[in-house]
Amino acid sequence: MSKISSLKARKILDSRGEWTVEVTATAETGETAVFSEPRGKSRGKYEEVSVSTDTAVENIEQVIASAIKGFEVEEQVKIDERLLELDGTETKSALGENAILGASLACARLASVVKKVPLWQHLNELSGLDRPSIKPRLFINIINGGLHAGGNLDFQEYLIIPRADRFMEAVENGINFYRALREYLVKIIGGRASLLGDEGGFAPDFKNNAEPFEVFQKIVYELSLQDKIDFGLDAAASNVRMNNNELTAFYKELYEKHNLWYLEDPFAEDDFDSFAGLLKEWNKGGLIAGDDLTVTNIKRIKQAAEKKSINAVIIKPNQIGTLTETLGAAREARQLGWKVIVSHRSGETNDDFISDLAYGIGADGLKLGAPARGERVAKYNRLLAIEAEE
Ligand code: PGA
Ligand code: ZN
Repeated sequence: MSKISSLKARKILDSRGEWTVEVTATAETGETAVFSEPRGKSRGKYEEVSVSTDTAVENIEQVIASAIKGFEVEEQVKIDERLLELDGTETKSALGENAILGASLACARLASVVKKVPLWQHLNELSGLDRPSIKPRLFINIINGGLHAGGNLDFQEYLIIPRADRFMEAVENGINFYRALREYLVKIIGGRASLLGDEGGFAPDFKNNAEPFEVFQKIVYELSLQDKIDFGLDAAASNVRMNNNELTAFYKELYEKHNLWYLEDPFAEDDFDSFAGLLKEWNKGGLIAGDDLTVTNIKRIKQAAEKKSINAVIIKPNQIGTLTETLGAAREARQLGWKVIVSHRSGETNDDFISDLAYGIGADGLKLGAPARGERVAKYNRLLAIEAEE
């Protein structure tokens, strides 16, 4: 194997034109690997603490680099333990989650380069998880609202979720739907309908919060894709000004009239009980997922399990900070029998680590935005490349 010889960090731009961290890890045998970080906007309040990009860069170069120099590249658990020890706080507030994440994931990618295996294979080995023959489903955020767009929708993400054996088929159906949706919206709303939100979905004004699903149903029939596409909503309810009765009535309407199959963060991030109440009624095959509720943190995942709040969980490495903790959260969720959905953030770079992560750990899904905007498309193209090499 080979040892880590250096870590370099610098600031680069993300898809919103804001600063984020890029880390380059080098091995003593000369190989290098680069990882760049995503940044959320509707961040959960229980996510680990980030510091400014300048401070994160400084912490990586002046504190972390010398501390992990000399570690074997493939010893991810030891590297991550050292990072946690260096930080020494419960919430990573000393060095910053963003300083720790960059170091952790750049080292993981470097190990795959040194081992000369695809990143997904290295991640699979680290995770100890089985990869089922069924591939992760694509969770395509095709209409953007809430904090991610300037339209009038209260809810953040309206998703289509193709059902397909191959990524190629899922992508084909996804892009056909996306194109038909644009044509339809431009016809009924006008040219402004094709303006995009942060994750590449359309973001016009609608008559009400349910109308996007009426449109989805029309299009799915038009394209004869009824058996091939499910619908989902990420309510991101911590940012929605509605009470729980109003929210519940809305979800029931979507469930009964519009075949809603996937629902993420239906209530505020502290409200484990309301999640549980809804799941009891909902549990006929559909998914209720925690994102801000669980923040890829094993303690909060266990709390949600005790309360029976959810049957699916979002996994985002930058909510928790290290790869080892991310994989631990995914393993715990799998043991609980939940569906595991790896996710991008609303602020992204062209980095495609999450595509390898989803495939490598045999996740049930990957949330990756609409098939538009380079930073979203990078994730789709990586999945297609992985499939082409199978
Ligand atoms: P964020 O939103 O990346 O802005 O936090 C994504 C999500 O809530 O799923
Ligand atoms: Zn979410």
